[in-house]
Amino acid sequence: MAIIIAVILDRHSRLSSADLKARLKGLNISDSIFDADQIAEFVDLMQVYEGAMYEISTKLEILDNEFQVRFSHDPVHHMERRLKSVNSIIGKLERKGLPIAVDSIRDNLFDVAGIRVICNYRDDVYSVSNYLSAQSDIQVLRVKDYIKKPKQNGYRSLHVIYAVPVFLSSGAHYTPVEVQFRTIAMDYWASLEHALRYKTDLPDAKLNEHSQTLLDCARSLQNIEVQMQNIHRDINGAPVVDQTPKTSD
Ligand code: GTP
Ligand code: MG
Repeated sequence: MAIIIAVILDRHSRLSSADLKARLKGLNISDSIFDADQIAEFVDLMQVYEGAMYEISTKLEILDNEFQVRFSHDPVHHMERRLKSVNSIIGKLERKGLPIAVDSIRDNLFDVAGIRVICNYRDDVYSVSNYLSAQSDIQVLRVKDYIKKPKQNGYRSLHVIYAVPVFLSSGAHYTPVEVQFRTIAMDYWASLEHALRYKTDLPDAKLNEHSQTLLDCARSLQNIEVQMQNIHRDINGAPVVDQTPKTSD
């Protein structure tokens, strides 16, 4: 039996200390406290985030492989992972009015390391996330279920922030990783909505029209997903559950 490993797409280049140092030095931050020590600390912190991201994605790969071996079903279609760029980190601290310092990143930002898990079906989203959440060496810091309660614009995904221990010479460092679990349909929708959101040159009327159409699309995709999920359950022997989709409120 061939084992197909879920494809992981890295949305950033492999972390390089020299590159990170150069980018930090190049940033023009007023009353900067990024002296040589802070830069060294920032580089160390980013390496810990990278380690945490790899630990969680390895756990997800192992779960996916187990499902494939035990149930001949592949819950994870693919994964994407990324470390937040230096510019985005600083930009987010500024936006939130937080101090521009390494401690401030550590204490306030939970999405420096991020993984997107794109699943085949909605059942997969919940089974993979529940099995991961139940693992004894990691902690669940926060859950936002935008599938059960979609955002007003129609956005759906399950967001979980995990804390995972990264073992360094100084001991275990519990490090947050933001994991977004979603189906292929949810991902397809979110990509277009994201593109629309960053399209700043559209007239308001056009933007409103497209936003309304996207909301309709979100509801249609939700219906299609429920129907396809039920076929999948039926042919795999699982009970067909009445899952009348809830519209956002
Ligand atoms: P910030 O990280 O400060 O934005 O707040 P938060 O962590 O409370 O945000 P949340 O968990 O709601 O969303 C974080 C991430 O989810 C975003 O960076 C996006 O990747 C994704 N996301 C959330 N809402 C939307 C949305 O309406 N559309 C799309 N396309 N993506 C979204
Ligand atoms: Mg966030």
